Amino acid sequence: MKIKSADFVMSNSNVINCPKDHLPEYAFIGRSNVGKSSLINMLTQRKGLAKTSGRPGKTQLINHFRINDNWFLVDLPGYGYARVSKKDKKTFQKYITDYFIERQQLVCAFVLIDIRHEPQKVDLEFLEWMGENQIPFCMIFTKADKLKPKAIENHVNEYINQLLEGVWEEAPKYFVTSSTNGMGQEELLGYIDELNTNFFKEVR
Ligand code: GTP
Ligand code: MG
Repeated sequence: MKIKSADFVMSNSNVINCPKDHLPEYAFIGRSNVGKSSLINMLTQRKGLAKTSGRPGKTQLINHFRINDNWFLVDLPGYGYARVSKKDKKTFQKYITDYFIERQQLVCAFVLIDIRHEPQKVDLEFLEWMGENQIPFCMIFTKADKLKPKAIENHVNEYINQLLEGVWEEAPKYFVTSSTNGMGQEELLGYIDELNTNFFKEVR
């Protein structure tokens, strides 16, 4: 899919105030600093579209970007950020969980995981929460440029095996990406294109 336009629409902290358009929507979620905003910029090839930072906690609101005038990418704040209180760390920020539960237009959420690390408790808990609440999602391994091909394969396999040893009967669909070298861009845009086609078939 070719990206012809990518425009920032609005930021807000309540799903009720999100755009009313009935267009297919894809949201990026994951730990702070995992690379959600960078991936939006990589996919759209617009460097400064979503604000990024080397310090966690950069994205603070629900940010809508309209792509090719007929679908949305949504940049969300991260979870698991060390500076939030212990109480908040346990659960996920309410406006984020409300977004996932209530946003009818959400076609697929992308849960980002840093490919370099062992499975982290907070990510496993979030994946479980998505499953329990029947939110459609895929996993995206980020920062693959930091590992050699063999290590990429090993880390992904270890992650998937750990999910299968835990509560998951079937591995979620996943992509391997790098915002630095563009790995995964075509696959991810191709998948979104497919889902968009189905979305518009169903509403017609
Ligand atoms: P919050 O908004 O704070 O939740 O973070 P985020 O998940 O949006 O992360 P962001 O895109 O701001 O990136 C965090 C840091 O990771 C930045 O320093 C990015 O340059 C870096 N980064 C993101 N993606 C990649 C990647 O694919 N490869 C490498 N090497 N660095 C990356
Ligand atoms: Mg961000």
